[in-house]
Amino acid sequence: MVIVANRLPVHCADPGSGPVRWHPSPGGLASALRSVVQDPRMVWVGWTGRAGPVRSPLPVDGVTLAAVPLDSVDVQDYYNGFSNGTLWPLYHDIAARPDYDDRWWSRYAAVNERFASATSECAAPHATVWIHDYHLQLVPALLRARRPDLTIGFFSHIPFPPRDLFAQLPWREEILQGILGADLVGFQRHCDVEKFIRSCWDFSCRTISVLPTVSGQTRTLRFIDADAGSGESVSTEVRVGAFPISIDFALFGRRSQQRETRTRAQRTRDLLGSPTTVLLGVDRLDYTKGILHRLKAFEELLACGDLDPDRTVLVQVAVPSRDRIPDYRTHAEQVAAMVGRINGTHATAGHPVVHYTQRQHSPAELTALYLAADVLLVTSLRDGMNLVAKEYVASRHDEQGALVLSEFAGAADELTAAYLVNPHDLQDLRRTIHQAATSSVAERRRRMRILRQQVRSHTAHDWATEFLDTLRSVRGSTCSSSGR
Ligand code: G6P
Repeated sequence: MVIVANRLPVHCADPGSGPVRWHPSPGGLASALRSVVQDPRMVWVGWTGRAGPVRSPLPVDGVTLAAVPLDSVDVQDYYNGFSNGTLWPLYHDIAARPDYDDRWWSRYAAVNERFASATSECAAPHATVWIHDYHLQLVPALLRARRPDLTIGFFSHIPFPPRDLFAQLPWREEILQGILGADLVGFQRHCDVEKFIRSCWDFSCRTISVLPTVSGQTRTLRFIDADAGSGESVSTEVRVGAFPISIDFALFGRRSQQRETRTRAQRTRDLLGSPTTVLLGVDRLDYTKGILHRLKAFEELLACGDLDPDRTVLVQVAVPSRDRIPDYRTHAEQVAAMVGRINGTHATAGHPVVHYTQRQHSPAELTALYLAADVLLVTSLRDGMNLVAKEYVASRHDEQGALVLSEFAGAADELTAAYLVNPHDLQDLRRTIHQAATSSVAERRRRMRILRQQVRSHTAHDWATEFLDTLRSVRGSTCSSSGR
């Protein structure tokens, strides 16, 4: 099997020309796959995170890593440009304004070609290839054209936009054609599946029918195209379904029960000045995460006296991300300014109310923070899944802690026992944070039990197994009906 993703599971920490040092890659995709992909026969195709030629890193957990080189123009136009300056904001409900640039698009197409040919070279005959995320939406069709023998799955880790937003994209038809080269297309949520199908209807420029659902999990799209050689019509089928990603529940459980972690959690609370309530946010420093909305709500709760600045602290971990992109820089400055303002108004010497750190925390440090926090704040304006919410739940073996969770995160479909909130509604955000922060031990336990049962019963391993089992069964049926 071959995994194809923009990033390898490890990346070069220093994007410049210093010595090559490898670190675990950021984001949900890498962490979810790391916990399931540990087969020595596997190959993972991806970028190292550094511009220019870099040797492939050594295998990770036995998996062979094949580096696709990107030069500095690729990084600028394909990664910062089209992937994160066009697709990312467009697919996240225009949380920032997407730019539509022909040069970015050409480079995106060229880099997708490079990924397709690197994959084609390392895939054994009849291998299964699993392609991930918005950076590589053209790869399924490009790979299909090179290697019709392969079974191809595509999974989108981020939301799919509503039809009227997707309509803005000047290359919408090409993107759909690219994705539809897969045998199976997976999304995080059912609503993404519906949005994708709607856009296929309107923009794929092919004759399409949606077949009645046979199994509950996937929908089947049938396309009728004219064969270029014979002129006869050929039908192909593509399955589309929701496969919500998850985490390694047992791993977080084990880590959080270690004595060292519990001691570290207690020490953290002591260092914070033994407050009555610790609120926590853990995010990439991304404008889609709703960090500013959360800070605003917190500031207002302090100002009106609903939260006491002498007894409450907010710990905000915000790991810098995509910091060459102007919208990310502006956002980072706004967050820093707001933290400064809140502390300027409410902190006393030696006792900040917001503890703000941009340091990447180790898994052990993060787990201790989860254990130390009374309330985790996930206030994304739009989010594919948000695995931090699931990590928090998995770490709370003591059945304590309250989860405030945005309705706009994919996790809200499953974690319905959380304190669900609309982060765009400041009043709702204030009310919900206050409610979670002041809830009784019994109420937290009631909710946390339900949440833990949910995360325990659907792990990262289940996610990967369900997707791959469906992919294999789908390929069996499409081979016989479409002649692919
Ligand atoms: C999201 C995406 C991932 C991406 C991650 C980190 O989770 O779905 O594909 O790797 O963000 O972003 P970065 O741009 O640093 O890879």
